[in-house]
Amino acid sequence: MTTKKPIDALVETLQEPKKKKTIIEARNVDVFYGAFQALNNINLEVEENSVTAFIGPSGCGKSTFLRCFNRMNDYIDEFSIKGEILIDNKKIYWKNVAVEELRKEVGMVFQKPNPFPKSIFDNVAYGLKIQGIKDKTFIEERVVKSLKDVALWDEVKDEMKKSAIALSGGQQQRLCIARTLAVEPKIILMDEPTSALDPISTGKIEELMFELKQDYTIVIVTHNMQQAGRISDKTAFFYMGDLIEFGETKQIFTTPQKERTQNYITGRFG
Ligand SMILES: Nc1ncnc2c1ncn2[C@@H]1O[C@H](COP(=O)(O)OP(=O)(O)O)[C@@H](O)[C@H]1O
Ligand SMILES: [Mg+2]
Repeated sequence: MTTKKPIDALVETLQEPKKKKTIIEARNVDVFYGAFQALNNINLEVEENSVTAFIGPSGCGKSTFLRCFNRMNDYIDEFSIKGEILIDNKKIYWKNVAVEELRKEVGMVFQKPNPFPKSIFDNVAYGLKIQGIKDKTFIEERVVKSLKDVALWDEVKDEMKKSAIALSGGQQQRLCIARTLAVEPKIILMDEPTSALDPISTGKIEELMFELKQDYTIVIVTHNMQQAGRISDKTAFFYMGDLIEFGETKQIFTTPQKERTQNYITGRFG
């Protein structure tokens, strides 16, 4: 065995690129709906403060996999899972996990904006109130901060009592993101969050991702490959329940290693 001189070891540490911390880890994940297997042996790691995009044709298991990270699939009777999912090194399917706590850490934004039929203020304050927080100043501050974070504050600050339903689709989706941010999760899951929106609203939400990843980790399902290319650091390509390829977004889009990925990103099927 050769021992390194301390100076060599030091130089090596300094040169080593800083590896970000892994915040989500899937190990040998199989998912079933009854007898149907929707995901086959998926292994994937997501780094903290990054945007990861899931792409692939409709029905390949993107939403199913995303919903595994906050146990949203638990609501589906036929659902079952094998393997492990770890968030912050904790196994989330372990029987003693408090699912409500998990969902505080792992927020979710859906395809169709789904504000509650309540005021703008109450929508954003909702998560804090159900946590039993009563401090009005605290709630107000958090609501304002969340609305500022999604660049909606200037548009709504004079009408906080107005019904959220009266907002445009793009504003509603930013409001739903603000509602998710208000409880300060670590991870935000987004399932095709812009597919019901016009290009301008879509652009606003895409810009937002760059800001949000400073403080959060984002995993987004998108059927829009240009969007994946614009906003994500890493891309995972799924096909019929398999994770075909996962890597740096630039690499996936310029030099995919698998023919199926190549065919999909060049639009040969989809
Ligand atoms: N609740 C469910 N019950 C039974 N099968 C489902 C359910 N949700 C999804 N599936 C099936 O699982 C597969 C993956 O679906 P999904 O995760 O929604 O794909 P994607 O998001 O990539 O379009 C599909 O074959 C779909 O029909
Ligand atoms: Mg889906």
